[in-house]
Amino acid sequence: MSTKSRTFAQKKPAVYIRTFGCQMNDRDSEALLGLFLERGYSIVEFPEEADVILINTCSVREHAENRAISFLGSLKKLKNSKFEIRNSKLIIGLIGCMAKNRGQEIFKKMLHIDLICGPASFDKIPDYVERIKNERARIIDLVDKPRCEDFYHASFRVEPDHAQVIISVGCSNYCSYCIVPYVRGPLRPRAPQDIIDEIKKNVDLGIKKITLLGQNVNDYLYSYPGLKRPSASVSFVELLRRVEAIEGVSEIDFVTSHPKNTSPELFCLMRESKKIRKHLHLPFQSGSDRILKLMNRGYTKKDYLRLIKDYTDIVKGTLSTDVMVGFPTETVEDFLQTKDVLEKVKFRYAYIFKYSSRPRTEVAKLADDVPQKEKERRHKILLELQKKISLENKIESIGQKK
Ligand code: SAH
Ligand code: SF4
Ligand code: F3S
Repeated sequence: MSTKSRTFAQKKPAVYIRTFGCQMNDRDSEALLGLFLERGYSIVEFPEEADVILINTCSVREHAENRAISFLGSLKKLKNSKFEIRNSKLIIGLIGCMAKNRGQEIFKKMLHIDLICGPASFDKIPDYVERIKNERARIIDLVDKPRCEDFYHASFRVEPDHAQVIISVGCSNYCSYCIVPYVRGPLRPRAPQDIIDEIKKNVDLGIKKITLLGQNVNDYLYSYPGLKRPSASVSFVELLRRVEAIEGVSEIDFVTSHPKNTSPELFCLMRESKKIRKHLHLPFQSGSDRILKLMNRGYTKKDYLRLIKDYTDIVKGTLSTDVMVGFPTETVEDFLQTKDVLEKVKFRYAYIFKYSSRPRTEVAKLADDVPQKEKERRHKILLELQKKISLENKIESIGQKK
């Protein structure tokens, strides 16, 4: 055998994943890379070097989708030529939340995309890729179902000392502006033992820091099949206690919490624990009660500020948040209520978003009536305010350390 053909025979197929969106997507991409590694693939840093390119996408705002669409378009040139698209050896897949939201349309329009797969079927992606390789088929899978546990089992981790662990997929809160329940499905908690086993596996690899992930971690409630007694269910606080008890775990945090079901019980555990990080990411979205009601958030500005006071009194920890400006019908007065919460609470940091209308959501039926320029003006005011607060916070904490 010549050296050349030997090199060719030994070359591993290469996979590249580009990830858009939230931490949940980062973890999903990592788990998927793990499955490809187990099948003998190598991971590459650039799409040009890959045999399989997967784009893991987000639909939460239109902007996130547009970025992914333009990236998908740019990949067309990597296939042999316009007329040979179906013969190219390169496999391109659109996966994740945007696949679920716009998969049908993109499947018809973008013929260079071989695979479209929603979040529920990620465990099947390596098999789908094999089928596409062998049959030159195109595959679309947009089913909504509980995920197969096998998806989480590969031990590959990007960070050597930190692991993100998904505790639940989906959301059943149906905030009126949010697409997540439609693309990720209803809330589906993983079984406590599966979560614990995944964490223990990480500890065996030398990982000590764990981040628990869920669209709303506090919604977590696992009921054992067949056991209807509420006492037989495992709540988020109970799960956190069990994670805390794992020997070898030294630092735990969690994202995201919803104000509606974040409880003083959680705060007491945070105070007592030597392992749980004393930081809470608690999105409030708006300071206006009228807008909060339209958003279907289930709390008022007063409820939120009371919760913050409880947290500060009990945990004495730091805080961060998500806020939205330009929600349909938001007046300047509504906006000033939001600004007031930022001024009062003085978050460590805040993610500030401009409202973006999302298909299928309740509020998409209303006119997106805050002009773009006004959204930008409100966005800029909050960004500048938060920048100032974050800076003061930092100086303050340096001052405290001294
Ligand atoms: N489950 C979390 C947030 C998930 S989405 C929670 O309920 O807090 C992350 C953030 O995106 C949200 O907090 C919200 O601020 C923002 N977001 C969601 N839908 C949006 C939309 N249609 N337009 C603009 N921002 C949106
Ligand atoms: Fe979306 Fe609301 Fe669920 Fe958060 S709680 S993911 S904003 S529906
Ligand atoms: Fe985006 Fe899906 Fe996460 S819509 S925010 S990637 S759950």
